[in-house]
Amino acid sequence: MCRFLVLALTLATVNLIHSTALGTDDAVLKPRVPADQMDQAKAWKNPLKPTQEALEKGKQLFQGKAFCVTCHGRDGKGLGGDIEPGTLKGPLPRNFTDTEWQAARTDGELFWILKNGSKGTAMAPFIPLILNEEEAWQVLLYVRSFGQSSNTPVK
Ligand code: HEC
Repeated sequence: MCRFLVLALTLATVNLIHSTALGTDDAVLKPRVPADQMDQAKAWKNPLKPTQEALEKGKQLFQGKAFCVTCHGRDGKGLGGDIEPGTLKGPLPRNFTDTEWQAARTDGELFWILKNGSKGTAMAPFIPLILNEEEAWQVLLYVRSFGQSSNTPVK
């Protein structure tokens, strides 16, 4: 786990240098996929059904080898317990319990992010080095599950 944390923080720090500050809710909803790749991204569909088994696998990846939890938190709210607020410059890790954000994105756009990262932010690409495509879809099922609770975050 410690090795993952060091990697995550290194990625965060490297990106910090290049990041631009986007702070508002509008900035969060703005598409991350470049316009010329949007049609392709939206065409990607999650081939997996959100079965208990697939969700459990997604959760294990999120909290385990893919270390998403480091930045996005166990509760998905966007600031892992390992990160001090203020240490990440630029946009904060996305809050997955934000239902407005959940509704604004297709699964394909989220998959694109896992392939390409979000340029200029601490969100790095995870496919293919850390996750294969099937694992990425499992993690995304889990990411989607945060949006289904009724606890809409305080903005
Ligand atoms: C080093 C910290 C860090 C780690 C580790 C990390 N993320 Fe992120 N993530 C971010 C940040 C910062 C953003 C916000 C980027 C932005 O605003 O464009 C983000 C954004 C996202 C988004 C939203 C992009 C959008 O369209 O709005 C998704 C989905 C996402 N992360 C999924 C994951 C998953 C799944 C993992 C684990 C495989 C993961 N992240 C690991 C920092 C991280």
